[in-house]
Amino acid sequence: MKFYVTTPIYYVNDFPHIGHSYTTIAADVLARWNRLKGSEVFFLTGTDEHGAKIAEAAAHAEQTPKAFSDTISEGFKSAWKKLDISNDHFLRTTDPEHEKAVQFFLEKLFSSGNIYKSKYEGLYCVQCEKYLTAADLDEKGCCPDHKLKPIVHSEENYFFKLSAYREKLLEIISDQNNPRHLAIYPIERKNEIIGKLKTGLEDISISRAKLEWGIPLPFDPKQTVYVWVDALLNYITGLGYRENSETFRKFWPADVQLMAKDILWFHSVIWPAMLLAAKLPTPKKIFAHGFFTINGQKMSKTLGNVIRPDSLIERFGVDASRYLALSLFPFGSDGDISWNALTEKYNSDLANNLGNLVSRTLTMIEKFSAGRIPSTGTGFSEISDNIFNELTGAEKYIENLEFSLFINSVQSAIDKTNRYIEITAPWKMAKENNANLAQVLFNIATNLKIITIFVLPFMPRTCGKIWELLGETKPIEQTALKYFADKSANKNILCATNGAETKKGEILFLRLK
Ligand code: MSP
Repeated sequence: MKFYVTTPIYYVNDFPHIGHSYTTIAADVLARWNRLKGSEVFFLTGTDEHGAKIAEAAAHAEQTPKAFSDTISEGFKSAWKKLDISNDHFLRTTDPEHEKAVQFFLEKLFSSGNIYKSKYEGLYCVQCEKYLTAADLDEKGCCPDHKLKPIVHSEENYFFKLSAYREKLLEIISDQNNPRHLAIYPIERKNEIIGKLKTGLEDISISRAKLEWGIPLPFDPKQTVYVWVDALLNYITGLGYRENSETFRKFWPADVQLMAKDILWFHSVIWPAMLLAAKLPTPKKIFAHGFFTINGQKMSKTLGNVIRPDSLIERFGVDASRYLALSLFPFGSDGDISWNALTEKYNSDLANNLGNLVSRTLTMIEKFSAGRIPSTGTGFSEISDNIFNELTGAEKYIENLEFSLFINSVQSAIDKTNRYIEITAPWKMAKENNANLAQVLFNIATNLKIITIFVLPFMPRTCGKIWELLGETKPIEQTALKYFADKSANKNILCATNGAETKKGEILFLRLK
């Protein structure tokens, strides 16, 4: 099995913030999950560095666009490293190989009659990097998203025959039985796209005559490639499309392409049409998650409310930042976040619930079982089966990108284990020399071991640590892979290991004020 997952490539007009991190963490969880399940995974992310918006930002900073892009692209790379993002490649649209591959692709479309020259006049929003119609503007004549007046562009451009693909797009998006079916989620967004496609589709200009900061058109080098066409192609150039590499042949089409709803039209209409024109397969699934605001306001530098991954990590640590990002609201919906809400969730789910379970389990094993997993404990007891079934049943949530529902199931598994401790009260059993104590401790340790396996893609460091504290000596990934390779035959490797020497670690999640 293979699995190819992508995030958008992010503009380098600003350093990464929590919005970019959100999509990237989600893609990382999917990549890690599929690796555990034994798939061969390719996870691509990167930076989008051409176009008027970047040229403007660079001019403002009194730097060349390339020098400016270098700094910010590095900022993305280092943020993803700090967040333990396990991407297999990081693409920059200024990579010479990408530039060559874009030209190769456009040459193909030109020679197959998909591109023609024509004059165009329109209103262009540089911040959106797209043309707007008069109907798109607000009452002040500004772009509704950026509150800026669009500029009038009038030039001879090259056009892509997007309109020629309207019927085919409608077919592959609407018909689930079509062999090229392009699934768009959430369904409401898919319906919006279908509705819009039904009203018509116009050809789009794919070059700029007056913008130097871009890839020259191969068949008219005085013009540069429209930044969106350049950017969308990253999903295939990053695999080695031009040389028809083994990686490209193995991984294309993408299994899941992630983004927020702001750029769904580009991904679900323009991108597949470009692929159809080049006679390439279209992606299997596109998922547009929601947009979030901070304390009810749009995140913006002018408002000073931008949350950066560095400040999240500083407050909560890497793993908790990853967990919190995906836990606050459903992936497909819009949502609001605030430091308060993040802190509350951190304290309740991680410090109080998971952290407390780990520390009391290890303390009890130390006190009542001389710091070893009881050697007489065996098998899956009712409580372990119960949480095992809960988590196995929740796997579908990851597959469907319902991360917050998966996290709810994890919390329920932790709650149940904590409740089991209250009910069995091992400290009382110890006083009473109850012979069942060993099995009870074994069950609790088993529960924790199962939980770490399922939470691993979300919090790789923490789960690895708990694993070691439980006295496991083989790497957690190895056990997880073995289990997922044959779940029923290998279920027993999820049981705590008899006689393993446990450790009492430091507090995993300090409570925060
Ligand atoms: N460069 C284009 C994408 C080209 S992909 C071929 C672009 N870049 S961007 O830097 O503006 O990033 C947009 C993406 O960042 C969104 O689709 C989403 O993945 C993420 N987000 C940015 N702000 C966000 C929020 N406030 N909320 C949620 N996601 C956000 O568009």
